[in-house]
Amino acid sequence: MKLLEINKLNSGYGDVQVLKDISLTIEQGEIVSIVGANGAGKTTLMKTISGQIHAYSGEILFMGEQVEHLPAHKIAAKGIIQVPEGRKLFPFMTVYENLLIGSTMKHVRKSRQKNLEYIFDLLPRLKERGNQVASTLSGGEQQMLAIGRALMENPKILMLDEPSLGLSPLLVGTVFEIIETISKAGTTVMLVEQNVKRALKLSKRTYVLENGIIAMEGDSSQLIDDPHIKKAYLGL
Ligand SMILES: Nc1ncnc2c1ncn2[C@@H]1O[C@H](COP(=O)(O)OP(=O)(O)OP(=O)(O)O)[C@@H](O)[C@H]1O
Ligand SMILES: [Mg+2]
Repeated sequence: MKLLEINKLNSGYGDVQVLKDISLTIEQGEIVSIVGANGAGKTTLMKTISGQIHAYSGEILFMGEQVEHLPAHKIAAKGIIQVPEGRKLFPFMTVYENLLIGSTMKHVRKSRQKNLEYIFDLLPRLKERGNQVASTLSGGEQQMLAIGRALMENPKILMLDEPSLGLSPLLVGTVFEIIETISKAGTTVMLVEQNVKRALKLSKRTYVLENGIIAMEGDSSQLIDDPHIKKAYLGL
């Protein structure tokens, strides 16, 4: 089943158009990666899907329903949940408080306890550090908290914006394993990554964004052997 379908999306910031005629689909249960250089428009795509900015034209369909005109909170309530670039935690609140903030929407409040148990099981570090203030967490712990907070919102699709940014190689591996576990538990994942090799290995399909257009798309296992991908993104 098509979970997310985007048709001819144009978006940007005022006069500055970034995305040009973007079309893509994400099937229920897939991990789809979006890769591209700095400034290609990856974050802009995610912000447009989550309703933080609004498209100039084009359609975003979620479970067959048009959502591009909805305000961000209504899009989140449908289960389109973003883990933003740079994590955007509440720095002076504790781990536990940050997680609870992820469950203030009415329809997720009743699954709070169950979600907390799931998240603490998946990310045991967060349980150990429940009363620690977020700003004092390590970079990796902060990323896990950002993921945990998003999971508190019962995502149907989890959109992660560069979750491995700034992490040590060991932690990058851990974050990718966590994403795989989340996917196996049934959540659809859209992964924006500059760690192209790992993103291609984890995802089923990939879209390559270059200067605001989809330059390539296909099965990740095939793109990994593509000469342009190898040269431009894998440094081979
Ligand atoms: N608030 C804004 N106002 C105007 N232009 C913006 C704004 N935010 C981003 N842009 C521009 O939009 C373009 C795409 O930015 P975007 O953040 O989507 O890229 P990206 O692919 O996520 O890059 P990165 O890998 O560096 O995160 C860039 O040229 C950027 O300067
Ligand atoms: Mg970005």
